[in-house]
Amino acid sequence: MGRLIVVSNRVATPTETKGSAGGLAVGVFGALKDTGGVWFGWSGDVVSETVANAGPTLEQDGPVTFATVGLTRKDYDQYYRGFSNATLWPVFHYRNDLARYERDEYAGYRRVNAWLAHKLMKLIDPDDIVWVHDYHLIPFAEALRSEGVTNRIGFFLHIPFPSPQVLQTIPPHEELVKSLCCYDLLGFQTRNDQQAFHDYIVRSARGAVGEEGEHGDVEAFGRRLRTGVYRIGVFPDEIAEQAKRYESRQHVLDLKQSLEGRKLIMSVDRLDYSKGLVERFKAFEQLLERSPEWRGNVTLVQIAPPTRSDVATYRNIREELEGEAGRINGRYSGLDYTPIRYLSQQYDRWKLMSLFRESQVGFVTPLHDGMNLVAKEYVAAQNPSDPGVLVLSVFAGAAAELSGALLVNPHDALGMCEALQRALSMPLAERQARYETNMEALRRNDLGVWRDSFLHDLRSVPHPGQMSQPQR
Ligand code: G6P
Repeated sequence: MGRLIVVSNRVATPTETKGSAGGLAVGVFGALKDTGGVWFGWSGDVVSETVANAGPTLEQDGPVTFATVGLTRKDYDQYYRGFSNATLWPVFHYRNDLARYERDEYAGYRRVNAWLAHKLMKLIDPDDIVWVHDYHLIPFAEALRSEGVTNRIGFFLHIPFPSPQVLQTIPPHEELVKSLCCYDLLGFQTRNDQQAFHDYIVRSARGAVGEEGEHGDVEAFGRRLRTGVYRIGVFPDEIAEQAKRYESRQHVLDLKQSLEGRKLIMSVDRLDYSKGLVERFKAFEQLLERSPEWRGNVTLVQIAPPTRSDVATYRNIREELEGEAGRINGRYSGLDYTPIRYLSQQYDRWKLMSLFRESQVGFVTPLHDGMNLVAKEYVAAQNPSDPGVLVLSVFAGAAAELSGALLVNPHDALGMCEALQRALSMPLAERQARYETNMEALRRNDLGVWRDSFLHDLRSVPHPGQMSQPQR
């Protein structure tokens, strides 16, 4: 069996893969260790042209090579801050009102993909398979193919794939879809995302650009590829164990003491406009307004580390959220009570799991989200003998699996408020039944299943890279 080459915009460091880094890093690293291989991507640094061109920097950890390159300021601005995060991210999250399109940023996005592909090419052996992750790297396979690479190349999209009408608001939408068709396997988080891609193929603005076959096969732009749904998961038992191990640490004791017996609602998100943070605060405000018995008796802890703060839309959401937290707290605080504790800080992952375990409600209400692993982590971290309740947006990919959650529409403040009331006063037997249902789903489809089924399907693709190349 050939090695695995993983490509993603950000690469976890060798130390991160062993500690409490995100589950994805731990899961993907597991596969890399089994077959040996390379994890390639951006180091996270902005560097001079000389340093960028000298890369990649290689770091060896057993059979795994971590290969990273720095980006020049111009590449960072056009590829990462520009087209990836100011065009693709908002449109793929159905926020085309927040998107901008600049032709030179798109050119930079393609240029950086081609440059990265050229850098990686020298590290690929003939029987390796290549697994590319996320929206930053849509043209990556096309770039590798034009360097003559014929290996199997798969792509997994971690975020939603928008419906054709929404995707078509990006002027070069057809070129993007054509680039996606250079992969051998496209993986999506949900059926809706896969369907949206197929819809584009058979019903794009100028009519069909290809056709659908059986088993998720698609023929378009002179190539045949396979598509599939692979719901990303977590390792639930590992999370449960760590959450329990951390439950008597000082930070948990401090939190408990400061709550003075009040109920706790926990939310954790990157500070992103797709996460529905403002809508969530408003729903919590409704709870305090409509149910006086909860005033002074329930606290919402929102942890929201800032992200992409050099993109204007992220600065705006931060200001808006800080304003809302201040307004609601001003209205309902007492001398010894603050209803919303808003922390715009990064927390260690295992610390978060132990805080989840202390809470009565996990409040996860994105406006659109590929999967949302926080929802899954919240469930896994609960104490089976006294579990909290997950209140989850129907627009998170996880909603399709977690039928034990209370599902809400994040645009319906009153509906979310009612779900909070129900969750806060739910009897133990119902909480336990819901928890068991959710845990069963998490165990059935854990992170290993996601990774292994994608890699199995990629390895089974017939005649990789030998399919006719896209027409130009
Ligand atoms: C989302 C994306 C990932 C990305 C992460 C952090 O989860 O799907 O691809 O790595 O956000 O975003 P950042 O821009 O900080 O790398």
